[in-house]
Amino acid sequence: MVAEPTRADKFSFGLWTVGWRAVDPFGDATRPALDPAEAVHRLAELGAWGISFHDDDLIPFGSDDTERARHIARFKDALAQTGLVVPMATTNLFTHPVFRDGALTSNDRAVRRYALRKVMRNMDLAAELGAETYVLWGGREGSETDAAKDVAAALDRYREGIDTLAQYVTDRGYGLKLALEPKPNEPRGDIFLPTIGHALAFISQLDHHEIVGLNPEVGHEQMAGLNFVHGIGQALWQGKLFHIDLNGQRGPRYDQDLIFGHGDLLSAFFLVDLLEHGGYTGPRHFDYKPLRTEDSTGVWASAAANMRSYLLLRERAQAFRADPAVQAALAESRVPELSTPTLAPGETVADLLADSSAFEEFDPDKAAERGYGFVTLSQLALEHVLGSR
Ligand code: GCO
Ligand code: MN
Ligand code: MN
Repeated sequence: MVAEPTRADKFSFGLWTVGWRAVDPFGDATRPALDPAEAVHRLAELGAWGISFHDDDLIPFGSDDTERARHIARFKDALAQTGLVVPMATTNLFTHPVFRDGALTSNDRAVRRYALRKVMRNMDLAAELGAETYVLWGGREGSETDAAKDVAAALDRYREGIDTLAQYVTDRGYGLKLALEPKPNEPRGDIFLPTIGHALAFISQLDHHEIVGLNPEVGHEQMAGLNFVHGIGQALWQGKLFHIDLNGQRGPRYDQDLIFGHGDLLSAFFLVDLLEHGGYTGPRHFDYKPLRTEDSTGVWASAAANMRSYLLLRERAQAFRADPAVQAALAESRVPELSTPTLAPGETVADLLADSSAFEEFDPDKAAERGYGFVTLSQLALEHVLGSR
């Protein structure tokens, strides 16, 4: 029996996910607008723990101060009634036409200044609601033609923007950490910081690099043909996995934002295994789009499906780890041996050079004879995923 979701599982959802009205480039909305307070109540009933939002998801763009206060008060009431928390918030820097050439990297300096202020205003609300992470997804930071951008200048401005926001958070004493979300393309033809690797390298150039990390999304790395599990492995290794967007994607194509597990299932299995056993303690945040074909019943079914997929995969990963046949196969494949340092404790370069067993007496042909047994290991994983072990 698979466990039902509980608060301890730390499942969270973007307000924009269940609230997506399914407008796409070819068609009108298929669903009515969703009241944020209703989203809070429904998600809480389903066993979720948290909800995240863009400023404009909660407070429609252009609201005056009175309307703004009313929207925030209603949301806070719903949170208080349900106990749902706000672990993360973010900014819409992509819908309004003013952001047609981006926000922090727009060629128009006035747009860049406006964007910083828009983020800061929502950071105030995020801190007030107790969020720990502030996500920055540069959806429109990029171009369709290489003639449009001086890339070095754009990266200078991106760095200036993120450092300015990090300074703001520090000055205000907010506990917020910033999490950059890479994506290779869509809505721009090419987006800056397209992958986890680009974003990690960029963070190393920041003055405030300590409080800036990543919010990688499953589908975004897969759109670029990359291995998401390896990307998350490196983000964890660098201490930069601040948050995660879980969803599904089927290979390099438009951003599908499918339910978690409904894309590359084996990759989802190894991802859950890594998150559960690799030291990640943050939110399990779903950033998906309920299929456009669905009515509101399907929306809530899809929200539940994300959590159930995760719990099923968590159970399968635990069974995989506990299986003596898997442990034997891991040993046979010498997976644990990779954790042994290549040099002995205290061994120097001179010691290595003096060790004839490492080179002069080493027989590469002999060492090359033995296979690694990864097929057996991989098949065991597949059989656990399929529930046949
Ligand atoms: C996408 C992105 C967005 C961002 C969100 C946070 O699917 O293109 O994931 O959904 O996560 O806008 O800013
Ligand atoms: Mn996406
Ligand atoms: Mn996302």
